[in-house]
Amino acid sequence: MHLLTVVLLLLLLGSAEPRRVPGSKATERGAGGRVRGRGRAGVMRRQTQECKEYMEAGEKYLDCQDRQLTVVRQDWPKDIQHLLLARNKIQILRDNMFEQFTQLKSLDLQQNVISVIEDDAFSGLSQLTTLLLQHNRIRSASEEVLLPLPRLTYLRIFDNPWSCRCPLDSLVRTLQVPSNRNLGNYARCAEPRSLKGQKLKKLNADFLCAEDNRPEKPQPGRPIVRTDAVSICHLKYPRLLLDCTHKDLDQIPPELPLEIVGMDMSNNIIKHLRPKQFLLSKELKLLNLSSNNLQHIDTAAFAGLLYLRDLDLSNNSLHYFQYGVLEDLYFLRRLTLDNNPWVCDYNIHYLVYWLKHHPSVSYTGLVCSEPLEFRGWRVEDYVKTYNGECPVDIPTEGNDTGQGGQGGSENEAIGDMGEGQGQLLPQPIKEKKENGFEIIRLS
Ligand SMILES: *[C@@H]1O[C@H](CO)[C@@H](O)[C@H](O)[C@H]1NC(C)=O
Ligand SMILES: *[C@@H]1O[C@H](CO)[C@@H](O)[C@H](O)[C@H]1NC(C)=O
Ligand SMILES: *[C@@H]1O[C@H](CO)[C@@H](O)[C@H](O)[C@H]1NC(C)=O
Repeated sequence: MHLLTVVLLLLLLGSAEPRRVPGSKATERGAGGRVRGRGRAGVMRRQTQECKEYMEAGEKYLDCQDRQLTVVRQDWPKDIQHLLLARNKIQILRDNMFEQFTQLKSLDLQQNVISVIEDDAFSGLSQLTTLLLQHNRIRSASEEVLLPLPRLTYLRIFDNPWSCRCPLDSLVRTLQVPSNRNLGNYARCAEPRSLKGQKLKKLNADFLCAEDNRPEKPQPGRPIVRTDAVSICHLKYPRLLLDCTHKDLDQIPPELPLEIVGMDMSNNIIKHLRPKQFLLSKELKLLNLSSNNLQHIDTAAFAGLLYLRDLDLSNNSLHYFQYGVLEDLYFLRRLTLDNNPWVCDYNIHYLVYWLKHHPSVSYTGLVCSEPLEFRGWRVEDYVKTYNGECPVDIPTEGNDTGQGGQGGSENEAIGDMGEGQGQLLPQPIKEKKENGFEIIRLS
């Protein structure tokens, strides 16, 4: 019972917290002249404000350097001429990632961890003249990436581990066109060994594909296999949804992008949700775990998901929720539970108890599948019958506290009664509050 009180207190404190923050900080920040709102919208704006927007020589700059960013945000101003993103954590330049910044003249992406540039990553940047990609982890790219950039005059790509093989052929040829004299200077091959250290500008391009066609010795270098979420799944712009459906994943992929707003993990083979896997994805509003093989969810599995509104757990193999699993979900609005083999016994009470105390959460699919006698019952109805039996038990158990018969538990019991949630609790806990119940019923 103590535990429940503590949990409730934490809940109350927890839900008070996000409200307090905007109020206290909005006045001193106000860089964009906007007062931060409540909840997730507030977080969005705070992160925008973390970037500095300024004018210089009549042009608009957005300085988002050194901010641990992994993606570009949709709420950044669209009319900027210069976007500074150096020293962040961007891994992949996705198709259409910068599309909204149609006025952009320079884009600084140096010193990130970019390893992949999709062909349409720079689409829409018809005014771009300067692109800085040095000090990243790019191994290959095709000429296609430069096609949307008719005005490009400066391209910096040195200090990347260029793999001088056939896929790089078209880019190398483009860089070597005489009129592109400021594109790609100083960039050198990191592999294969025979070309290591050679400048891309000076390579004999005919060599690239020939080199590749030679029978390959097994490469001792790092394999390119990557296991992080951004590589496995598809990050969709502009809404920052991470699409990981049908990927045969048996666990949540590591290194989730911090800024994702929705994540669709449906139709995989995850059995077990481990603690704290979403801890850093604090912006997540939608999490779809439908049609996996979920049997077990650890207590802290949803830790950090403060703003999650929509949780779909349908079509899994869940029997019950472990005590405490839902306590991190302060702003949940929709919980989809259909098509799980819910077992109507003692363990299911936590879930019903939690739902009862979070009336703003709409849920579906809470139907008993076992034991046979309750199959097809709504779980709430099952819990009612369970509690309905309790008064019958009172006379027989009345003399006994059921906890070693110590009268010392009385204070505890009375303290807990203050909350008045006895009616849903499983029997063994309820017995401790016998006195409290008597008093309430009489009055
Ligand atoms: C989750 O994914 C399933 C299957 O793709 C889909 O039918 C369902 O509508 C999704 N749930 C939510 C809440 O979006
Ligand atoms: C439920 O999940 C299984 C795989 O776990 C899948 O084959 C089936 O199509 C899903 N059913 C629905 C209604 O989504
Ligand atoms: C409870 O106490 C009454 C009398 O005080 C006694 O008759 C009854 O047997 C006791 N019941 C139990 C379960 O000890």
